[in-house]
Amino acid sequence: MAEPKENLQMEKIVSLCKRRGFIFQSSEIYGGINGFWDYGPLGAELKRNVKELWWNTMTRQRDDVAGLEATIIMSPAIWKASGHVDTFSDPMCDCKKCKKRHRADQLCEDQGLTLIKNADGKFALPEGTKCTNCDSKELTEPRPFNLMFKTYVGPVESEDNVAYLRPETAQAIFAQFKNVLETSRQKVPFGIGQIGKAFRNEVTPRNYTFRSREFEQMELEFFIKPDEAIEAIHGSVVTVPETGHPGEPQPNWGWQAWHQYWVEERVRFYENIGLSRETLGFHRQTPAELAHYARACTDILFKFPFSKQDENGNVAGDELEGIAARSDFDLSQHARFSGKPMGVFDDELRQAWAKLPKEKQDDLWRRYYENRKNYLTKSAKPDETAEQIQKQATDDANGLAKGQYIPHVIEPSAGVDRLILALIANAYTETTKTDDKGKSETIYTMKFHPRVAPIKVGVLPLLKNKPDLVKKALAVRDLLRPWMNVYYDDGGSIGKRYARQDEAGTPFCVTIDFDTLGEKPELLDTVTLRYRDDGRQERLKISELRDWLLARVR
Ligand code: GAP
Repeated sequence: MAEPKENLQMEKIVSLCKRRGFIFQSSEIYGGINGFWDYGPLGAELKRNVKELWWNTMTRQRDDVAGLEATIIMSPAIWKASGHVDTFSDPMCDCKKCKKRHRADQLCEDQGLTLIKNADGKFALPEGTKCTNCDSKELTEPRPFNLMFKTYVGPVESEDNVAYLRPETAQAIFAQFKNVLETSRQKVPFGIGQIGKAFRNEVTPRNYTFRSREFEQMELEFFIKPDEAIEAIHGSVVTVPETGHPGEPQPNWGWQAWHQYWVEERVRFYENIGLSRETLGFHRQTPAELAHYARACTDILFKFPFSKQDENGNVAGDELEGIAARSDFDLSQHARFSGKPMGVFDDELRQAWAKLPKEKQDDLWRRYYENRKNYLTKSAKPDETAEQIQKQATDDANGLAKGQYIPHVIEPSAGVDRLILALIANAYTETTKTDDKGKSETIYTMKFHPRVAPIKVGVLPLLKNKPDLVKKALAVRDLLRPWMNVYYDDGGSIGKRYARQDEAGTPFCVTIDFDTLGEKPELLDTVTLRYRDDGRQERLKISELRDWLLARVR
């Protein structure tokens, strides 16, 4: 893998983000804090737009998804059940000479090597690995470093009071599954969506905001029936092609169709906010990469300026979002650890099962039993015996025959900050203009899709010392303000003001000029509307302006 030449591009993007108030280093006046970033005025608007679009698309505009807003600190038992306390770690090693700490897999990758994973699950550095800081080959063996931030709840700092800042928003959804099911009048298949902060004490935060220690996630857990239940009710499980959108959800879809559906729905979302398919990449995790309980995971990638090229010059991209088919692992874990049932009762299944021929019942029973036994064996507590596991799997399969099951889940999990960075990188455009005297100037335009643009419209009076123009421009601002983010600007030449809005990524500007006031009577109460991307201008009636803009910025 070659290092991308575009780190210069990243430097320019970082500089524009600071100069224009998209992103600042957290605690900058104290020298900053590694892995933490603040969003300035334009960044805050951009982020808000992205989250609102996700929320609207994924929850409000669907009948089958409900929302949740849970706390950041939850019972530590949740993180025990989810596996985060025991296994949410990265391999880390230290240079014995310069004391620099590295994430072992990244250290190897940066040198074209692959970290060795032994049969016992422990890691080892391959021959030749050196410290990228001082070139020493004296490195400690890799050891796991848990990424969760620890804190204490209450005034006593004891092990009994340890709590964690959530490393993902997903677990709260599983923990509240029953409450949401009972209060939202949803039935499987249905989803629960959540947007919120997540924290990971990354060993080496890098690539600007891409890998941060505090970030936001937008996660959906979409609960579906197990394939055996679908087969019992509908006779068979429909599978769909692994490419392309499978269309409207169907009752006989199994996990594979739902997974493909959500991958494509998420791609549509990205296309709708200006990330074309060409800017995206896909990575379907191999069986070796998949968690033991997962059926599939497709990562949607974005071709960032820092994304690496292969030997043929192709750029796959880096992860924006993962869409995982996680079986019934999560709810099963919480059922086992909390002792609270997480299953649902499905009368359609109960009735369908009763009508099945005996061989079909036996076949489905056996398959469900094997799946459950497999899960129970892999996640058994140390004191659980094979007999206990078999008994539990038998109970579970008997439950299926009576219409009971623990839902499976498809999880589209996206990072807000990575998406913001992708949108910024995608929007960043530089052009050089040379005037008649041969003087060159670089022009920066942030070509955001109007739906995500921080400011939707700039309202500019042609001159600020003409009270009638100013009065009219303020009236236009006030007309639009309740509907969208408007920026009123009367400072400097009109060209300078357009350039300022281009850098902020404002898709439209309206200028109030003497024709607006009726200098040419036929143009009374019209404005000049300017398009950011090509500078095109047209005349529009003030009375039509709001609806014209709303049709484009929503
Ligand atoms: N619940 C599943 C889950 O959390 P993940 O792949 O670890 O899966 C999901 O995270 C998404 O969260 C990633 O695709 C990425 O967009 C974002 N994300 C994860 N770690 C991040 C970090 N350190 N900084 C910024 N975003 C991160």
